[in-house]
Amino acid sequence: MALSPTFKDGIKKRRSGSTLSKSRPSGRRVEGLIIAIDGPSGAGKSTVARFLAKRLGYLYIDTGAMYRAVALKVKEKFIDTEDESALYLLASSLFITFVTEGEETHILCGGEDVTEAIRLPEISRLASAISKKKSVREALVQKQREMGRKGGVVLEGRDIGTVVFPDADIKFYLDAETEERGRRRFNELVKKGVEVDFKETLEEVMQRDHNDMHRVHSPLKKAGDAVLIDSTHRSIKGVVEEMAHIVEERIEDRVKSYEL
Ligand code: DC
Repeated sequence: MALSPTFKDGIKKRRSGSTLSKSRPSGRRVEGLIIAIDGPSGAGKSTVARFLAKRLGYLYIDTGAMYRAVALKVKEKFIDTEDESALYLLASSLFITFVTEGEETHILCGGEDVTEAIRLPEISRLASAISKKKSVREALVQKQREMGRKGGVVLEGRDIGTVVFPDADIKFYLDAETEERGRRRFNELVKKGVEVDFKETLEEVMQRDHNDMHRVHSPLKKAGDAVLIDSTHRSIKGVVEEMAHIVEERIEDRVKSYEL
């Protein structure tokens, strides 16, 4: 049987008046699928997640930017990084939103655009340190679940498929060789006019990998049911195409199962 275009669009497009809610017994993910993209820094998650979200008409949530925003405020407010209750209070009280304009996604924290400020190396280090804290993770995971619960979202981070949405509709684990990830991070910073050394950047990437993979709470790891994609020798376009193809197939399968 031919697929109903209205039904397909209902699953695909987040803000176009979905028909999925009428057909899905649970009525939970009324605005589309939940897509999780996890992996180490520099694997290309942000870029592919943004393109994939745009292609699907979904909301893009950069959860790393949320940890960075908390780090920025910790610094500005001189909060003790060992004080778990102060950290929880701060992280849970921040009003974080994402605004996508053309190719760029801005992160607003209490209305203030912090997109540039959160990318500085000092904030990267602080974000890595505070993301180990249970209090910060609890506050941000709660926010991420709230933002994504209706579906129609692409969430990108380290623990999306394992902790935030273990029942995500599709999980990807995007990886790349360490040298290549260091080179990408280096080029990104140079492009932004930040003075950096390649060796130092590579060491920082390795240090952050180690921190992310060995922390007690929600360490970075591939979910058992995640699709592994290595982006080392691949173009962004190629990776997005592969992901989009997998998503489209999943949508078609869902539509068929509703029609039976
Ligand atoms: O993806 P990123 O480099 O912008 O992430 C910033 C830091 O936040 C990084 O050290 C890993 C951490 N992070 C995390 O612990 N869990 C997430 N879901 C996303 C990021």
